[in-house]
Amino acid sequence: MKPINVGLLGIGTVGGGTFTVLKRNEEEITRRAGRPIRITRVADRDLELARRVAGDGVALTDDAFAVVSDPDIDIVIELIGGYTVAKELVLQAIDNGKHVVTANKALLAVHGTEIFEAAQKKGVMVAFEAAVAGGIPIIKALREGLSANRIDWLAGIINGTTNYILSEMRDKGLPFADVLKEAQALGYAEADPTTDIGGFDAAHKATLMASIAFGIPVQFDKCHVEGLVGLESVDIRYAERLGYRIKLLGIARRREHGVELRVHPTLVPAKSLIANVEGPMNAVLVHGDAVGPTLYYGQGAGAEPTGSAVIADLVDVTRLHTADPEHRVPHLAFQPDQMADQPVLPIEEAETACYLRMRVADQPGALADITRILADNQISIDAMLQREPDEGEDQTDIIILTHRSIEGRINDAVLKIEQLPVVVGKLTRLRLEDLDK
Ligand code: HSE
Repeated sequence: MKPINVGLLGIGTVGGGTFTVLKRNEEEITRRAGRPIRITRVADRDLELARRVAGDGVALTDDAFAVVSDPDIDIVIELIGGYTVAKELVLQAIDNGKHVVTANKALLAVHGTEIFEAAQKKGVMVAFEAAVAGGIPIIKALREGLSANRIDWLAGIINGTTNYILSEMRDKGLPFADVLKEAQALGYAEADPTTDIGGFDAAHKATLMASIAFGIPVQFDKCHVEGLVGLESVDIRYAERLGYRIKLLGIARRREHGVELRVHPTLVPAKSLIANVEGPMNAVLVHGDAVGPTLYYGQGAGAEPTGSAVIADLVDVTRLHTADPEHRVPHLAFQPDQMADQPVLPIEEAETACYLRMRVADQPGALADITRILADNQISIDAMLQREPDEGEDQTDIIILTHRSIEGRINDAVLKIEQLPVVVGKLTRLRLEDLDK
């Protein structure tokens, strides 16, 4: 049967993995797709590298635009990344009637609306399984496997670099900066780690998942993002003593008047499955009204795991490219004319439990002053821990876990507590999610 022709833009780690797996499992993949899938053209600035990875029999160029306008190419895989050239190439490929497979979460989280609209008009597919959680088929699960459900919420460890850093900080009791250096030396963290440790990579992925889960447009600019910078090992230890672990979670939750979309370090119960996802592994917990909780676990990065997701999309596109566009799975799971206009709520309206750590003068009435402010803000206390002061020390740490409350009220209480004469310096505030309903 006639092969489907694929053009690959950018042959880095994931491109290499895609080649390896396509070749190794060629027979099985063909049996699934119904026809052979062949990468026939590769564009990369490094032609020597491209030759080494792609081998003979693949046409190479350093001009990616030549690939997207090649009439023999049916599917374009975009693995260049970023917003600028990648966006032009994807839009050009769509305009030329080509289907697109991409791992570019940043591009889709920011420019998804424009890209999906263009693809819709042109009747082509834009598939992006590899953009979220590497090899875990989370897009497939959310978009198809859970389509009976009203999805209530999802929460994911969707950045391996930060999960590795958090695991090391907990295991070895090391400060963030030391572990980051170690992660860079081992090649887990990029030389410029801002996108990962700043939480932006997770926010791109959370934005895409929220969109598919709730049928809302992609709105990266509305996602509240906090990364690991400033997180102290002492909080990991106190959390542990209270029965929690700290994970960088991407969270999307349906609320009555809108959707919460946020990325931040989060305390989760130490016994929960997701708390035990360690090192660079990823996991996404999705709660649907019919199915209840479901958990997806696997490698969120790497050549073959991400290549696995790219190829799954190639197989999907190969099976469906002759189908009437109306009979394909919509890009964002919901029919384009059925997208909801549920707003993404400002972070002040989010509802979460909290971990509050404060340094206080160890004197009568200190705790009473603090708890009064919480009570006045209708914030209920769930648990408390006070560090035993050292010999001769006249200050101590108090850690309070609250029940769920509206963020705005917590902000107000934190400001007032910081102004108390018995409180020294700033409070450390982290969010806590039990993830049980
Ligand atoms: N840099 C990401 C991570 C992988 O650390 O998980 C690609 O999104």
